[in-house]
Amino acid sequence: MSNIKQYIEEHKNRFLEEIIDLLKIPSISADSKYAGDVKKAAEVVKQRLEEAGVDFAEICETPGHPIVYGEKIIDSSLPTVLVYGHYDVQPPDPIELWTSPPFEPIIRDGKIFARGACDDKGQMYMHVKAFEFMNKTNNLPCNVKFMIEGEEEVGSDNLEDFVKQNKEKLKADTILISDTSIIANDTPSISVGLRGLSYVEVEVTGPNRDLHSGVYGGAVGNPINILTKMIASLTDENNHITIPGFYDKVLTVSDEDRAEMAKAPFNQQAYQDELEIGSTYGEKGYTPNEQTSIRPTLDVNGIWGGYTGEGAKTVLPSKAYAKISMRLVPNQSSEEITKIFKDHFESIAPDAVKVTVTPHHGGEPLLIPTDFPAYKAASRAMQETFGVKPIPQRGGGSIPIVALFEQELGLKSILMGFGLNTDDIHSPDEHFGLFNYFKGIETIPYFYKYFVEELTN
Ligand code: BES
Ligand code: MN
Ligand code: MN
Repeated sequence: MSNIKQYIEEHKNRFLEEIIDLLKIPSISADSKYAGDVKKAAEVVKQRLEEAGVDFAEICETPGHPIVYGEKIIDSSLPTVLVYGHYDVQPPDPIELWTSPPFEPIIRDGKIFARGACDDKGQMYMHVKAFEFMNKTNNLPCNVKFMIEGEEEVGSDNLEDFVKQNKEKLKADTILISDTSIIANDTPSISVGLRGLSYVEVEVTGPNRDLHSGVYGGAVGNPINILTKMIASLTDENNHITIPGFYDKVLTVSDEDRAEMAKAPFNQQAYQDELEIGSTYGEKGYTPNEQTSIRPTLDVNGIWGGYTGEGAKTVLPSKAYAKISMRLVPNQSSEEITKIFKDHFESIAPDAVKVTVTPHHGGEPLLIPTDFPAYKAASRAMQETFGVKPIPQRGGGSIPIVALFEQELGLKSILMGFGLNTDDIHSPDEHFGLFNYFKGIETIPYFYKYFVEELTN
């Protein structure tokens, strides 16, 4: 495998041009206006898989956005790695905060800036290029299947059905995913957990129409005032969530495990400085690393209602809204938490308003062990290319389909991501370091090599 570095050196410019091309397509899955672009991105991914050398690739239509599938089977008696990734991206809003336009990728300070640069086009494409290398240089030690979806950012609903209906086609020995981050470029890590998600939208209705806030104000409940009070009551002075039963199923992490996690490097001051905050603000009794991984949270993602235009308008609005997400940890269940949220939120509403709670997508939390072949292979691969052993670390984000893979395919995934938490995924100026892009391409072939070794030893 010593020639991977040389191969990257020789093809560096093309590897960059290709990812830049893909990043130019605004494949925003959440916005139906972009459905044509999502489709175009799928076609490009399929074509690139073919050029890299898969035996066959296809676009699998779904009721939503298509899934790109490709495979190279060199010998059915050899192990199979199933690569999962997503080519859809988050909306770029607020667009005015981008330094350069989100779909005009540009390299600045050794980083590619574009929506999807890290999440997940850049990371997904590392796998296509690593495969190209293995295939073209006779370094492919096993079979490979690719399943690249276009709906991860909207909840993977159709992928769920696809997985259930294509168990034979997706048969593999492990699922390899690069859609998470490492601690730092000199401190690699492997994600051994993901949080789950419950996501709801609430609507609070007061009077049947907007009213003059002088004529009626004082006697009629203002739905925005009431909604914010209700939201404020969901956490206490220790930032502990007050919804009855919310923590019932939370798996306690042992002191031993917490001590082990605390060994990961973390600089509180640097963390605050980078975010320009005077202090962190989380659940009492836990460190920031714990607050973002082993503990569940409740966050308002958006809140609106009333008059938000220029100047002042004295109005007592009829309605107020909020989008609220809860990050879950093992063994909370998304469906159960959504239900207890709904019951609780409806129960605390005063008679002056009506409340409706509508669930959006959700996903289950999960833990990944460190003592199975794919973990060992990923750890050895990163050690090889970073020069240090990666630290197992639980992540705070969610990739709901990973729990489903385990449930439906009986397969554990390995989350070997190469992004950084500071890559601004979902934010303006999303970027991906060139170091990370090429390090990913360099590391992946070692994963294949060591995975086959681990399985056959
Ligand atoms: N790749 C992210 C998840 C992620 C990022 C995990 C960083 C760990 C570290 C994924 O694309 C994502 O954004 N997931 C969503 C959930 C989805 C249902 C919209 C999330 O975590 O908010
Ligand atoms: Mn992602
Ligand atoms: Mn994402």
